[in-house]
Amino acid sequence: MAKRIIGFGVIGCGLMGKEFASAAARWCHLTDADFEPRIAAVCDANPAAAQWFADNVPSVANVYSDYRDLLADPAVEAVYCAVPHHLHEQIYIDIVSAGKHLLGEKPFGIDRSANEAISAAIRANPGVVVRCSSEFPFFPGAQRIVEWVNEGRFGRIIEVEAGFWHSSDLDPTKPINWKRRVATNGEYGCMGDLGLHVLHLPLRFGWKPASVRALLSKIVEERPDGRGGTAPCETWDNAILACDVNAADRRFPMILSTKRIAPGHANTWFIRIQGTEFSAEFSTKNPKQVASLPYSPGGRQAWHVEDAPYRSAYGTLTGAIFEFGFSDSILQMWAAFCDEIAHGRDGMSQPFVCALPEEAAGSHRIFTAALESHRTGGTAAVDWGS
Ligand SMILES: NC(=O)c1ccc[n+]([C@@H]2O[C@H](COP(=O)([O-])OP(=O)(O)OC[C@H]3O[C@@H](n4cnc5c(N)ncnc54)[C@H](O)[C@@H]3O)[C@@H](O)[C@H]2O)c1
Repeated sequence: MAKRIIGFGVIGCGLMGKEFASAAARWCHLTDADFEPRIAAVCDANPAAAQWFADNVPSVANVYSDYRDLLADPAVEAVYCAVPHHLHEQIYIDIVSAGKHLLGEKPFGIDRSANEAISAAIRANPGVVVRCSSEFPFFPGAQRIVEWVNEGRFGRIIEVEAGFWHSSDLDPTKPINWKRRVATNGEYGCMGDLGLHVLHLPLRFGWKPASVRALLSKIVEERPDGRGGTAPCETWDNAILACDVNAADRRFPMILSTKRIAPGHANTWFIRIQGTEFSAEFSTKNPKQVASLPYSPGGRQAWHVEDAPYRSAYGTLTGAIFEFGFSDSILQMWAAFCDEIAHGRDGMSQPFVCALPEEAAGSHRIFTAALESHRTGGTAAVDWGS
């Protein structure tokens, strides 16, 4: 099969930059992909981070310390950008203005005004494919829920709950990093860090909250600064958002939570949808299992808990009986992004596209309202524009 090779540049060679390198290195895992990313160039302000790519990724021909040099590299057709949030605005604008396709990391700008500037640059460059990284909806259990929503199985929605919970910050001896500082992570705190993951499916389903009541908490006030002292933790650790959704003329409550400190939860992403005709739940806590409850009036209310087969958007070598994991979801997300570059949205081999810039922009509207709700102690309307 002749493959369309897509030349990639990586800006930000940290945790997530390396995850992409790993996904690209096992592209042979995908059975029918007639497209393939090839990392031609990388850039990091820290030479040691970029050196990892030079040592481990044979296709890397150029290593840069200034991302503008990477953008001028003719071998770079598309860019993965995974840098701290305060750098998103300028770098994302420069990437799309250089005519390069972009898979950018969330939250797509440190705040709403940064996000609006990025959105304006995207509108000015309609020829580039721009998507936001969000991998969890590619878990087979999550894909089943997407199918059920698209089939209209749920009847009238009663309630939705979605969340993304971490717990490593429960340890007060964990040193401070850029995610605990407002200047680098943003005033949104845990919402900017984790919230697009939680909102990707609800916004894809068209469930836009009209208003939000936010409960934001700071739990660990200071952390070791790595130099023998301590530094203040400035950002919100946990956020619970009670949202009032108005969809298809029906209102229902949606509870969204993003937690850096949820004891016992390493990386738990979940969605629960209750409806009058069908209910369903999926959590990465039990990555093989998806639960559903079909209901007809007068009938029994029994949950069906099924081991979801290893069947995601793109076919793989792995047999259906085996387990799907985090790095598999990253590979699937990358397949969706590269498929869209190679074939366009209408020509993709499956319909689930990566998170859209409009969905990232929607998350900013909700987080901005959440901050206002916390400030006033009341419910804040979400500004969806005209
Ligand atoms: N999709 C996910 O599951 C997921 C998980 C973690 C983080 N993220 C997101 O990924 C992004 C990066 O997070 P991370 O955890 O990989 O961070 P990280 O700190 O591990 O890596 C960031 C890298 O950016 C580099 N950098 C800083 N300034 C730079 C500049 N001017 N030019 C080039 N490189 C520069 C740093 O040296 C570092 O190597 C953030 O937006 C974060 O929210 C996404």
